[in-house]
Amino acid sequence: MSSYLISNVSVVGAAPTDVLIRDGVVAAVGAGLDAPEATVVDGIGLVALPGLVDLHTHLREPGREDAETVESGSRAAALGGYTAVCAMANTSPVADTAGVVEQVWRLGREAGLVDVQPIGAVTVGLAGEHLAELGAMADSAARVRIFSDDGHCVADPRLMRRALEYVKAFDGIIAQHAEEPRLTEGAQMHEGEVSTRLGLTGWPAVAEEAIIARDVLLAEHVGSRLHVCHVSTAGSVEVLRQAKARGVRVTAEVTPHHLLLTDSRAETYDPVYKVNPPLRTATDVAALRAALVEGVIDVVATDHAPHAVEDKECEWAYARPGMLGLETALSIALDVLGPRWDLIAERMSRTPARIAGLEGHGLDPAPGVPANLTLVDPAARRTIEPAELASRSRNTPYARMTLPGRIVATFLRGEPTVLDGKALK
Ligand code: DOR
Ligand code: ZN
Repeated sequence: MSSYLISNVSVVGAAPTDVLIRDGVVAAVGAGLDAPEATVVDGIGLVALPGLVDLHTHLREPGREDAETVESGSRAAALGGYTAVCAMANTSPVADTAGVVEQVWRLGREAGLVDVQPIGAVTVGLAGEHLAELGAMADSAARVRIFSDDGHCVADPRLMRRALEYVKAFDGIIAQHAEEPRLTEGAQMHEGEVSTRLGLTGWPAVAEEAIIARDVLLAEHVGSRLHVCHVSTAGSVEVLRQAKARGVRVTAEVTPHHLLLTDSRAETYDPVYKVNPPLRTATDVAALRAALVEGVIDVVATDHAPHAVEDKECEWAYARPGMLGLETALSIALDVLGPRWDLIAERMSRTPARIAGLEGHGLDPAPGVPANLTLVDPAARRTIEPAELASRSRNTPYARMTLPGRIVATFLRGEPTVLDGKALK
């Protein structure tokens, strides 16, 4: 196996030092390391972070390989600084059996660009009626620990309770897409001033908050782990704050787009801004940012949702919800949080790795630790060109925006997946 010497790099914002990678692990960290056999990577001006971990990625394979594949999504992830992603279950067929989750897991290994950890569906076909084979997926080669019907809410409280009870045996997690479906029928965007003005049916904040309130109570009752996907409202933050204060085993994520963009984007009628949950108000954005800093929201997760051109470049009402995220997430985090490297490492690597139980990920470079890390150039600025993205889809809301930060290199178990900002496979 190869050796790499990353010279004069700032590890998570600290004073520059050298990092030596050998045989897949970090062999040494310290100033003036000498390793004649190693390939030198000039780390001057760069920040080394533990490889980013995404709890919420849509890879679309099997079924919509025109929009993304495990391989193309893995490449997008590596270019975004990720070393592990959790693949959502709303594929076609749905990842609701051991067979499908093993297929996704195997495709991830074959691509070899990031660790792909499949998420299993909670209910058969995401239909919300019968529990899927949670145990068989947990026992499969993919070792599924997180289950989610994302895209759909597990709306039936009895089914949600049973799912929480089922996964408790192996300390699994139910990741909920919190949306009371009766309150969002026909919804096109956030319910508020802008939706009223545009005459579009609204998706009220309470549809999210009511499900989170219910589910933290269910999780508390059962004593199981709940994870709340893409929290988008100030009210949800308050529900989570209270639940955490009571000791409920709940964690939560926020997406880059909910940290940056507001519902005023809908005024353009450009479906690239259509997403579920919808973009909210400036007040919500401020509350989400504060909650992320404070830790009421535990992680940034991309909800990378690639869609084919025909599903996005159409009338707003017909467009699928979702936006790309993997290749821009670190830049948005840097824009929103500033160069608070320890906070970024915590919210985008250490904590998501811990929640998902991904061994060898989310660990700061230190002797003996698997060399899963990414190198960021914080001084670089880049203009996002959709055609240059590695994703098979083009639905980025950041097109032609100039964003801070660039991923220079990503290492997966000591081998570069990205070098000089380019994917190596
Ligand atoms: O905007 C979204 N897109 N929200 C979801 O919950 C699902 C996702 C998708 O699969 O496209
Ligand atoms: Zn969702």
